[in-house]
This record gives sequence, structure tokens and C-alpha cells, in this order.
Amino acid sequence: MTQQSGAFWAGREILLGVSGSIAAYKSAELARLFLKAGAKVQVVMTSSAKQFIAPLTFFSLTGRPVYDEMFSGGPEEATAHIELARRADLVVVAPATAQLIGRLANGLASDLLSTTIIAADTPVVIAPAMNPQMFAHPAVDANIKTIASWPGYAIAPPTEGELACGEFGLGRLADPPGIVEFCEWFLSGGKQDLQGEHVVVTAGPTFEDLDPVRFLSNRSTGKMGFAIAQVAARRGAQVSLVSSVSPPTPIPGCNHVKVRSAQSMHDAIHALLPETTALVMAAAVADYKPKEQAPTKIKKKAGPLAIELDRNPDILASLPKDPKRITVGFAAETDHVEEHALGKLKRKHLDMIVANDVTQPGSGFGVDTNQVVLLKADGSSESLPMLSKVEVAERLLDQVRTLRAAKERS
Ligand code: CTP
Repeated sequence: MTQQSGAFWAGREILLGVSGSIAAYKSAELARLFLKAGAKVQVVMTSSAKQFIAPLTFFSLTGRPVYDEMFSGGPEEATAHIELARRADLVVVAPATAQLIGRLANGLASDLLSTTIIAADTPVVIAPAMNPQMFAHPAVDANIKTIASWPGYAIAPPTEGELACGEFGLGRLADPPGIVEFCEWFLSGGKQDLQGEHVVVTAGPTFEDLDPVRFLSNRSTGKMGFAIAQVAARRGAQVSLVSSVSPPTPIPGCNHVKVRSAQSMHDAIHALLPETTALVMAAAVADYKPKEQAPTKIKKKAGPLAIELDRNPDILASLPKDPKRITVGFAAETDHVEEHALGKLKRKHLDMIVANDVTQPGSGFGVDTNQVVLLKADGSSESLPMLSKVEVAERLLDQVRTLRAAKERS
């Protein structure tokens, strides 16, 4: 949650929809976070959600009775969905099952929760939770895309990880604090405008092994690439994160492809290439690797040790040309920043390069801020002030949108 969350959520009415998934226990935590931030929470459950978590849990947390049945009581209950929909400033469905998503995508108002969502004239956030095979199924995928295309609707992407079913993949309900942050971003005007893009982002250093215990590497931490992956997924892109280092917590909406050396990063990117629509190479790729990789630990001897190095492949330069793909490189420099960056932009046939001076405080490795210049192949450039890496990622992806529009026109 951001620091402004308290003021942001104070007095807002949230309708929290809970459908029948094992992840339903996490919606109690979500309700608590919204309440703690100052919002009011009204819970509506599907009948299968009640098999996973008792309405009493939500009643105890929110101080309000939980709605579940469409026509369970007197005549006032017949219009409960309209009343509930009218009262809400935001509808959040977490967890949203494949069933609920399917009903909503097809306008099937078959129970109180789906009816209330359809009757609502407020922003709606859907947070899916299901088995990875189900999430990847073409029917579910098509339903999610349908919902995401509607104005006022957004999908809070699930995370990758081990699920209750024991399988590993994308489908785990996003963590409650991440859902609150997503809702805040969406209500503040955030748009899922990267639908249809498959963004491949590289991050962090590469490790070039010398022997089983030693390697050559660099000071990159991956923060810039992680921020780009997070923002791209939040904006609706399918995202593959290719990196040697892992983000502190799984990034919602990202498939993580773990690599180690420049060669393995090269191979992973080439494997993903047929489905990649935009490649953002934020990784600090080692240009050299030890010529020999010793199978056992190298023992010290008298006198100096010479290590012979071989060139690694230049990943960007190795890519076949594709007029539809958007390719963005990074240039972390210590001198003649724009001159070096422009050279790389041309040599590597990039659409855009992000240049920064890593000697400047607050700009470079390990920090949460960056000050960059975006240089494009058409000769235009944008010099950004010092911003958080998340904000830099937003501005970079705005340019990806502009580049996509230009490619579509040509
Ligand atoms: N890059 C790459 N393959 C490499 C080295 C770098 O694809 N073997 C990519 C980086 O991910 C970055 C861009 O190329 O997006 C520029 O990387 P950088 O290390 O700044 O440039 P180099 O071409 O390696 O040039 P130099 O090290 O001489 O500055």
C-alpha cells in the first residue's frame, strides 16, 4: 500500500465479491486492509465461496451482514443487487473463479454477485485465482480479455507460484496488499492500455562462471527491469521476465524465466522471440566470459593468475529483424552518455534506448530512482527528471505505446 492510501481510501464504499476458490481465505485479509485504510466494506459471496470461508468471518471484520442469496428474504431483498451496486464506489471481486469470470464475460446474471456486478455503474476490479492450466485455457483467456476490454473494468493479474493444487504457474491470487495498490492505481486513472502486447523484459546482471564457486558479474540489481515488468503487467500486457535474479516477491502477471549467463539469457530470449511483441533489455549483460570453466575449484598457486576471456554473444545485435517488434535497449554510461547511447541505438537497430549516467547520485544500480533520457530511432528524445523507477517504467511504456501506434501506421 502507498503512503497516501489512508487519505485515498477514507470513506470509500467497497463492494467485495468473493467467489468459491481456496484463495477465498485471502479476501478476509483484503477486507481488513481496505478497512484499515479507512474504506467501508460490504461483502457479497457466492454460495460456493461459503464452502471455503464462513460469512461470519466477514461479518466480524466489516460489522455488516454478508449478502449471498438473491431472493432469500422479504420483498426488499428482490432489489438488493441494485441497492448494493448503487452504494459502491468500487467493486472488487477477489478471488474471481473461472466460473464467475465466464458468467460475467457472457452477461449471465445468475446469482446475487454476478447480478450486482452487472448492475454496477462503478469501476470493477477482477482478481482471478485458479489452477494455471485453467488460467491459460483459451476459453478463460478469451473471457478475461473480453472483461478487460470493457470501460471501467480491470483485471488485477494473478502471480506465479505454487498453488493449493500443488502445481506451479500463473494463477495464484495476487497478494492482498498488491490488490489494494492495484485498485488505487486503477481508480487514479491507470489504464490497461498494453493489452495484446507480449512484453519480454530482462533484468539484473548475468553470472559468468569461472569454476563451481566463482563467477564474473556486475553491480546491477534488477530493480529497473522489475519495475518495467510490474508496470507492463499492471497495464495489461502478457509479461515474461528473463533474469538471473528474482524480484523480492513474485510480480503479478509475470512469468519468470530464470537464467544465469549471457548465453542462457540469449537462448531464453530467442526461444520467446516468436511470441514477443516488445523486448525491453534492461539487463546488464556481461560482454565477456571465462574462456574455460573449471569443473573443480581452482586452487591458488604462487604468482599471479591470468584468466582468459571470450566474447559473449551480443543479444540485441543477434536478433533477426522484425518490423512489428518494438526493441528497447538500455545504456548505463559513465561519460559521453548520449553519444555512446546513440551509437548503441544505431548499431543494435533499436527503436529506443534508455540512457543514464550511473555516476550521478540517485541514478543507477541498487537505488529506487533513476534519471534517464529516452532516445528514439526517429531522432526524437525525452529527457526525464529524477523519478522513481516505477515512474520511469510508466514513461518508457508510454513511449512503447507511441512506437506501436507508429508501427501500425507504417
Ligand atoms: N546487451 C546485449 N548483449 C550483450 C551486452 C549488452 O544485448 N552482450 C544489451 C544490454 O542489455 C543493453 C544494451 O545492449 O540493453 C547496451 O548494453 P551495454 O552493456 O551498455 O552496451 P555494450 O554493447 O555491451 O557496449 P559497452 O559495454 O562497450 O558499453
